[in-house]
Amino acid sequence: MARSKERYAFITLLGLALCSPAVLGKPFLPQEYVLQQAALSGSGHGHDDPLKSFISDVVQDDTPIGSGSSDTTIVVAVDGTTSTTTTTLSVPAPLSSSISSSSSPSSLRYASPPDEEEFPRPSWFTSTLLARRLLAKSSIGITSTVYQSAASAGLQGIPISLPEYIADCSDDSDPDAENNGNPILLGLYVSTTFRNVAQGSNISLSIDWWDHLKDTEPVYPDFPLSEAGLPRVSLIGYVERVDLSSEEQKEDIEECFLASHPDAEVWLPGNKDSPHGGFWARLVVTQAYWIGGFGDLQQIGWINMTEWRGIGRFGSADGIGDGSGRGWEDVRLPGEAV
Ligand SMILES: *[C@@H]1O[C@H](CO)[C@@H](O)[C@H](O)[C@H]1NC(C)=O
Ligand SMILES: *[C@@H]1O[C@H](CO)[C@@H](O)[C@H](O)[C@H]1NC(C)=O
Repeated sequence: MARSKERYAFITLLGLALCSPAVLGKPFLPQEYVLQQAALSGSGHGHDDPLKSFISDVVQDDTPIGSGSSDTTIVVAVDGTTSTTTTTLSVPAPLSSSISSSSSPSSLRYASPPDEEEFPRPSWFTSTLLARRLLAKSSIGITSTVYQSAASAGLQGIPISLPEYIADCSDDSDPDAENNGNPILLGLYVSTTFRNVAQGSNISLSIDWWDHLKDTEPVYPDFPLSEAGLPRVSLIGYVERVDLSSEEQKEDIEECFLASHPDAEVWLPGNKDSPHGGFWARLVVTQAYWIGGFGDLQQIGWINMTEWRGIGRFGSADGIGDGSGRGWEDVRLPGEAV
């Protein structure tokens, strides 16, 4: 904990150093800065474009920070096309000693590099089971839709992200059912999300496990609890109206949705007392992007949609996955009791 605070302090100081060349060379708190700024070529406007510096920093991100530095000094070089800036600063002893005790770049970020045997990365099929479990355990997600028309207060083409109630009403007994892996939404005609959809917007739904941080363990030894190490998935697709051809189907969907959202009883579609007209909708997921956590411990990338759709709660459809026949009830998200 103490070290991570110092790390933030270091990052802040580094930010100050890069932004304020004027203070460099002067004593600043206990730290000592040395800046060498190579002559700017051409117009001398090498730092005028913040996006350019940003892109340059991103490209440089895999440069081993601090490699070759002494045990009390970190050297960060930012090489732009027109300038070279080198900032040297001394850092507090605890951070610098933790850096000097390890040599690889990744060990600067994590106290000790992950051991493959101790932290085996789940397979893609297991990750897809985890993603389906995350959907099943989620009752709220953030939807993004895009304003379609020029009449939208100058927002045409701009995505808007809003939380929505969702419910996973996948049919456990029939993995091929229409709702399998396609969450149910309660569409209100008044809602911005559904107005954008009605005008032709596609939709993305982001769900995550970040609220469960307190139940989890640090993902690396000596690393603090971290939301970034926990799963999230973005479900991409389109919204379609759910056709309720029988009273039984209507009751099933209401029962499923109200199990997660008892308050929604008031504005259920067809409720005459509802303040808003609405309809049952399904997010038909066509693509799913999974971030299981930190990339050296978890999978990150596009999910196989055949597997996404073929997974059920207690098992998977024939020919799906690794032959284990597992369903999402066979896996646990971080911090869940086994
Ligand atoms: C966007 O929506 C259209 C129609 O609603 C659908 O056919 C298409 O597959 C969607 N695109 C994606 C990436 O889901
Ligand atoms: C997707 O998953 C199915 C079922 O497990 C598998 O047969 C197929 O080869 C996979 N597709 C890709 C591109 O990996």
